[in-house]
Amino acid sequence: MRTTSFCQFLDRSPTPWHAGQALAERLRRAGFVEVKEPEPWRLERGWGYFVQRDQSSLIAFRLGGPKLRLVTAHTDSPGLRLKPRAPHTSGGYLRLSVEIYGGPILATWSDRDLSLAGRVAVREGKGIALKLIDFRVPILRLPNLPIHINRRVNEEGLKLDKQNQLHLLLQPLQDHLSPLDRFKKLLADRLGLPPGAILSWELLPYEAVPAAVWGPEGEFLASGRLDNLGSCFAAIEALIEAEEGETTPLVALLDHEEVGSMSHKGAESDFLSTVLQRIAAALGKPAAEILPQSALLSADMAHAFNPNFPDRFDPDHRPLLNRGVVFKENAGLRYMADPWLLGFAITLCEAQGIPYQFYVQRNDIPCGSTIGPIASKLGLRTLDLGMPLLAMHSIRECMGTHDLEPFIRLLSAFFSAPATS
Ligand code: CO
Repeated sequence: MRTTSFCQFLDRSPTPWHAGQALAERLRRAGFVEVKEPEPWRLERGWGYFVQRDQSSLIAFRLGGPKLRLVTAHTDSPGLRLKPRAPHTSGGYLRLSVEIYGGPILATWSDRDLSLAGRVAVREGKGIALKLIDFRVPILRLPNLPIHINRRVNEEGLKLDKQNQLHLLLQPLQDHLSPLDRFKKLLADRLGLPPGAILSWELLPYEAVPAAVWGPEGEFLASGRLDNLGSCFAAIEALIEAEEGETTPLVALLDHEEVGSMSHKGAESDFLSTVLQRIAAALGKPAAEILPQSALLSADMAHAFNPNFPDRFDPDHRPLLNRGVVFKENAGLRYMADPWLLGFAITLCEAQGIPYQFYVQRNDIPCGSTIGPIASKLGLRTLDLGMPLLAMHSIRECMGTHDLEPFIRLLSAFFSAPATS
């Protein structure tokens, strides 16, 4: 069952760097060949390739004909990140201070069994190596106040002061090591290295609870990071399944979408455009000729209607879980909805028997965005779409179990489809 492998992928991917590793392994198993940016590429028609930039951005493709079929998604999720001097003591405890990454719902982080994962820069011989680390078990906590000394919490909601009330509890004070040395020893022990080897880190707390299928008939799936690991998983599965034909299917999974994509490996970087130039060279045509006959689907999870809050949704655009793929539109171009490509996607849905729905944000609530508008600057027809999701940016989000397979089928059909405008 693909739901099982999806849940395993979610559990193995507490951070974008772990997701990059898991997706690269999946591609290798499917016969894709890894190519590296600093080396020359010898691409051959019919073969699948992938390239990674700094672990958490990955582009995979199968070289075919000169019509490119692109799917983009992001590997990062909103949450908390440890500060460089995070460990400190207060009130008899060792605590870790954090920054906020993107737009998490902070209240959902309280009273959860939190673990820690990420990557650590260590001394290795005369050089520096990046090591992935994942504690897997709960080692951190953001404890709530008792209602007896926060009497209005149910009327006013749980409000956490971002500077003073997000420190994570790690340990009671117990030895003479400084907080920093104590924490470095914890990391070093986990990595099997001496504490002096630890140089720096990118570490993310996450909820140490596996993804769960729930509902009387297993209708739903709950996990952290469904936005947007759900789309990453579906895009890679679809690429592997795509039939060979006149197209070159390509998946670009990019980091840093939740903070605006402005980095050396985000959607605003040159990663995708340089890969497209190398593909164009292999196809023997300039990218300027290839891109106008190509198309891009921007895959990101979509807001599903929550019946406890009906007034937050447009009455005529209320996607439901397990009712199929969601096409998103926004007049302010926060989502892209190229009309030809939307029409094309609808014909693919019809041919595959896949139901589809529409999401439009209410006019009186500002709309979120995706990689779509950024990637469309390459000069491609672009359409935003995704699987419906409840509680986006909660520490635990929820999607429909029966939305995954049709979404993979739609992306796969798009990859193989030769239709042109
Ligand atoms: Co997203």
